[in-house]
Amino acid sequence: MTQVEMSSMDVPQLYKRHIFACHTQRPPTHPRGSCGAAGAQPLWDQLLRRIEAEGLAAEIGFTASGCLGFCSVGPLMVIYPEGVWYRPKTPEDIDEIVESHLKGGRLAEDLVVVLARS
Ligand code: FES
Repeated sequence: MTQVEMSSMDVPQLYKRHIFACHTQRPPTHPRGSCGAAGAQPLWDQLLRRIEAEGLAAEIGFTASGCLGFCSVGPLMVIYPEGVWYRPKTPEDIDEIVESHLKGGRLAEDLVVVLARS
């Protein structure tokens, strides 16, 4: 097997940052839960509006993702290239992520969720 050198993966990036936000919606009584059932959609709508209003749409990618695998702790979103996972619950949380992470390049520490595979 050929090993790929990290330097060969240094390619021009389309976005400065790319957000994947879980849009999975399961019934409220589903045993796995879901980000949709936890109120994700209005938060993601607000996040998109803020990205556009702040003039960040050219540098911040936003993708409506399927399940990110940690349903019970949603709503979940992850921002790359940092690989930071956030669990916003309120419109104010979305504002904090926009101001701190997307505009300021700093963690919105109170909203970070550290996940581990079981
Ligand atoms: S439903 Fe969002 S992480 Fe699974």
